[in-house]
Amino acid sequence: MRTLNTKDGLSLSELSLGCMNLPIDDKAESEKIIETALDAGINYFDTADLYQFGENERLVGEILEKYRSRYDFLIGTKVGNQFDAKNREKTAWNPSASYIKEAVKDSLRRLGVSELDLYQLHGGTIEDNKDETIQAFEDLKQEGTIRSYGISSIRMNVIDYYKKHSAIATLMMQFNPIDNRPLEVTDGLSGIRPLARGPVMKGLLSDKASSVLEKKFDEGVLDYSKDELEETVDALAAINRDLTALSYAFLRKNGAVIVNGVSSLRQLEDNLASYGRTEDLTDDGYNSILEAVKILKYGEHRI
Ligand SMILES: NC(=O)c1ccc[n+]([C@@H]2O[C@H](COP(=O)([O-])OP(=O)(O)OC[C@H]3O[C@@H](n4cnc5c(N)ncnc54)[C@H](OP(=O)(O)O)[C@@H]3O)[C@@H](O)[C@H]2O)c1
Repeated sequence: MRTLNTKDGLSLSELSLGCMNLPIDDKAESEKIIETALDAGINYFDTADLYQFGENERLVGEILEKYRSRYDFLIGTKVGNQFDAKNREKTAWNPSASYIKEAVKDSLRRLGVSELDLYQLHGGTIEDNKDETIQAFEDLKQEGTIRSYGISSIRMNVIDYYKKHSAIATLMMQFNPIDNRPLEVTDGLSGIRPLARGPVMKGLLSDKASSVLEKKFDEGVLDYSKDELEETVDALAAINRDLTALSYAFLRKNGAVIVNGVSSLRQLEDNLASYGRTEDLTDDGYNSILEAVKILKYGEHRI
């Protein structure tokens, strides 16, 4: 498994595990997924306080703890969405320093760790007091509560601000050949590592493309109607029948850490097999992918 470094020294496996869709009610299957991931060399596990209102962090922390003596791994989580765990509802967007400094303690407790490897702001708006948020992350880094911080955002204006005024090491965005809006930002990231969520576009970029198209994309997506999406998937499959490997190769060319979510062991095994078949694209190979898709841009939140 290849690794990719962040500018502040984290070494993340190129293929990482998004934990949001783990089968939370099936602990045994979740454990098999995490153990298989570790065995395959995956070392980065991405969760968030909001996922299942704290339960995802609890599950991931509990399982990983069992493997701590055998494997080195990194955990990333996210903050900013205040929630009511009892009523299982999101209550507010809160990027204030006081909230972040309290919420990190809850995440550490649920994950069962004393330090977080990567702490990400789970969104954000241009109206936030961003300097206060940045200072909170800096303080947590300074005191050794977190090793590194980043943001998860698809807002150009927010990304631009954090790029210029903070030491974020990572930027998470949905990123794959179809949702290629991040191409707008990846060129000018000056050392910030892109973390690609949604690399298989909910399964559309897998060997289940036809059924996923019917089940999840009946209305189309982004600038694509359902028919256009089907044509585009066919065009991509003509380049590489293994659509997952094609997406991974596209993301590799962009230097992205591929944060793939799965809800079953079988999906992880399929994704690992595709990772094994992932090639380094030539410029011509990369351009043929770009020619098969629409080149999209982020529409809102630009100024
Ligand atoms: N705003 C944010 O910061 C944010 C938002 C979303 C996600 N994330 C993070 O990014 C991670 C990945 O994102 P994601 O889960 O949205 O996207 P993803 O990795 O593209 O999609 C995961 C889903 O795709 C399907 N899938 C995966 N592998 C498959 C395969 N081989 N064959 C068929 N279907 C397959 C599964 O859907 P089914 O379960 O329906 O079968 C799985 O739950 C998350 O786990 C989370 O850690 C962050």
